[in-house]
Amino acid sequence: MKEITYFKSFQIGGWHLIIAVLFTLNLSTAAVPANSVRERLSFDSDWRFAKGDPPGIGNELSYTNIKSWVMATGSEFEENGKPVARPLGNVGSDVSYVQPDFNDHSWRQLNLPHDWGIEGPFNPEAPGSTGKLPWAGVGWYRKHFDIPASDQGRRIYLDVDGAMSYANVWLNGHYVGGWPYGYASWELDLTPYVKVGAENVLAIRLDNPPASSRWYPGGGIYRNVWLVKTGPVHVGHWGTYVTTPEVTPSTAMVKIQVTVDNDADIATTVSVKNEIYELKANGGMGKAVASMTTKGLKLAAYQNQSNETQITVKNPRLWSLKRPQRYVVVTSVEQDGKPLDCYETSFGIRTIKFDSDRGFFLNGEPVHFNGVCNHADVGALGTAVNTRALQRQLQILQEMGCNAIRTSHNPPAPELLDLCDRMGMLVMDESFDCWQRGKRPNDYHLLFDDWHEKDWRAELERDRNHPSIVLWSIGNEVPDQGTPAGPRIAAELTRIAHEEDPTRPTTAACDHIASGFDGFQTNLDVFGYNYKPFEYARVHQANPDLPIFGSETASCISSRGEYFYPVNLNKNDGKSDFQMSSYDLSAPYWATIPDTEFKAQDEYPFVAGEFVWTGFDYLGEPTPYDAPNDPSRSSYFGIVDLAGFKKDRFYLYQAHWRPNRPMAHIVPQSWDWPKRIGQITPVYVYTSGDSAELFLNGKSLGLKKKGQYQYRLCWNDVKYEPGKLKVVAYKNGKQWATDTVQTTGPAAKLVLQPDRDVIHDDGQDLSYVKLAVEDKNGLNVPCADNLIHFEISGPGEIVATDNGDPTDLTSFPSHDRKAFNGLCLAIVRAKAGQTGIVKLTAVSAGLKATSVFIRTERTTE
Ligand code: GAL
Repeated sequence: MKEITYFKSFQIGGWHLIIAVLFTLNLSTAAVPANSVRERLSFDSDWRFAKGDPPGIGNELSYTNIKSWVMATGSEFEENGKPVARPLGNVGSDVSYVQPDFNDHSWRQLNLPHDWGIEGPFNPEAPGSTGKLPWAGVGWYRKHFDIPASDQGRRIYLDVDGAMSYANVWLNGHYVGGWPYGYASWELDLTPYVKVGAENVLAIRLDNPPASSRWYPGGGIYRNVWLVKTGPVHVGHWGTYVTTPEVTPSTAMVKIQVTVDNDADIATTVSVKNEIYELKANGGMGKAVASMTTKGLKLAAYQNQSNETQITVKNPRLWSLKRPQRYVVVTSVEQDGKPLDCYETSFGIRTIKFDSDRGFFLNGEPVHFNGVCNHADVGALGTAVNTRALQRQLQILQEMGCNAIRTSHNPPAPELLDLCDRMGMLVMDESFDCWQRGKRPNDYHLLFDDWHEKDWRAELERDRNHPSIVLWSIGNEVPDQGTPAGPRIAAELTRIAHEEDPTRPTTAACDHIASGFDGFQTNLDVFGYNYKPFEYARVHQANPDLPIFGSETASCISSRGEYFYPVNLNKNDGKSDFQMSSYDLSAPYWATIPDTEFKAQDEYPFVAGEFVWTGFDYLGEPTPYDAPNDPSRSSYFGIVDLAGFKKDRFYLYQAHWRPNRPMAHIVPQSWDWPKRIGQITPVYVYTSGDSAELFLNGKSLGLKKKGQYQYRLCWNDVKYEPGKLKVVAYKNGKQWATDTVQTTGPAAKLVLQPDRDVIHDDGQDLSYVKLAVEDKNGLNVPCADNLIHFEISGPGEIVATDNGDPTDLTSFPSHDRKAFNGLCLAIVRAKAGQTGIVKLTAVSAGLKATSVFIRTERTTE
């Protein structure tokens, strides 16, 4: 059979519709292996791991030495798309760890995702800026796996969502390829080196140079890994692109671009069927919505071909923050009615718009970015990706009224984007922390020239189907601002983004004031200023057509539950004993307190919103305690601490971002100041009300009203006396919310509270168990620092403990941890495949022990 296809292109509403008309001639049919339909298998379990290179190999496998081999990987992402030839020979084949018969039995057995630095121990001498943890150096992973004889003729790919960093991969002793950027996702074609019907051995070497990051980067294969099997004709890697160029209340035009690869040595012709279904909130397939088949897609031998279809969806259910409705396109590549491949792409139907005078619009409705920046680590679990840990972060942030996340300063884990799609969070998807000019001696600037195009296109192609993403960020505070190269690079990165995804604007997080005026800004679709609330008006005036927003704001620093006196409005103050006062008045010189940014956002409606630095505390960058001898290992910037406990600031943001939620919150949250009797102890109230009256031991200290641009109510001359401090907040003259803080008695008991008491047995799901030290009346003792010991029995394990103290150098996996200001945390994980009752017990000298029970249930999904 031979088929010749005639494609005709019609212009509909600015987009091309391709209609396939089929003629039949004399072409061969691709041989379809029996097992041709795609499988995407988790490849996370049962790896062997060792730190360091085998003795004696010196720099043999350093990036500099083997760069010409590595550079051949990912050439499909370069504009000219030409395969880059690899030097002859098999690099590294003489290294024992690469060889399939190397005995790795003494290596540590583990499952991915794995962060080799997070277990510690902390090194007090190591830089706090990268967390004082052992993330640097070389590490090897090996995995033995079978490829059954029935896979003969299939393509076998290794998909790595992220490995930190400078990855190189060998299969059965053959060099396959590598990818240096630790935040990139990449795919290698294992097919040429696979042994079918036999055992295969994969070896991966990673190398984290010291001084390569400004924060804790983690180390290892810290994201998920997949083994993908397809037939020779299949949808390409990230081979679908779904957009919604026209959306009205009654119809949506869904444009689906599918790239089909023919990895066989003969030409063939296939049809591509695209079926659209609704997705249920739990991710399950909902009702069928529309479908279309394009016949006669002709594929030359070893070539790929793109197919474009437009499908109308009637009465579309739009993806919005309140109702994040998702759809899925199921793409089937077929030949003579037989499936060759099946590929799913979830997407959303929604419109976005930036207006230089009015900000951002989602589906025509104004949405102000109440956003936060977050780094990739999830506290005590390090950078090892865990969906529940990320979901918990997003839930806590949504409770605060946060509606947007900036993935500072790199491509995020795919799971984060899926969660944002499902939960209705907007995303500013970022790429780089530097371009040609670096911030650290060994950071990405060493890779930029060779890799930025591959990294950037890979990120755009991986992420562009996510409805949550509304901005592509080409970089954070790049030192190339203000250099002749800066605007040229910005223009190139924006051009690439437009080529890969013309539906979203680019931005950059600029810290140079001049970048808003010197021409740099003209290379961005939307202008992001970091810490420049005082410049919004000027930059808007100079660029009336350029939408702007606060790409990084505030950077207030505080430690949960720490209050220092006297309270001082000087933002450089509030420091004591390596902690920061929680009156939320301290910030580094380049930054501001939240209130200053709120005022600018309220004053200038053309500003599309803000992304606060940061939502959660993170490992590393413990400003202002980042001098060599300082003990701190994690940040003070978070609105929420490293353990996930809310700092007072949470309520300052919640009051502003959720004005309709009745809430009042007293600062300080401690009324235990025996040494302050009679002394001035200011009281602040964060409330979504418009006024509040404060009472100390029943006596009114006066009613205060918020003025314009005032975000906290302050009673600055309260004289401390033990007892009960109560606030009654009002809104429009009616009582709105109350809060009380009381003097507590000595610590008497421990109280455990799991955030979930039923979890899945998938070996990943978590219960975060909060421990509170309470007095005999059940009041949380705000300064309690009792040493707690956790014990566990049943089908669960304690992965880590934490307390939110940035100076605590006890290793995270330890079962012993001091409470910090009355609270402590144990993170419990179910053992894979084991159901039953987990018992977690907390004991502490002089206090009554306590236990909680968590049930682990069979995973059904
Ligand atoms: C910014 C930078 C962030 C973080 C922050 C701390 O300048 O973009 O990565 O370092 O300062 O305030």
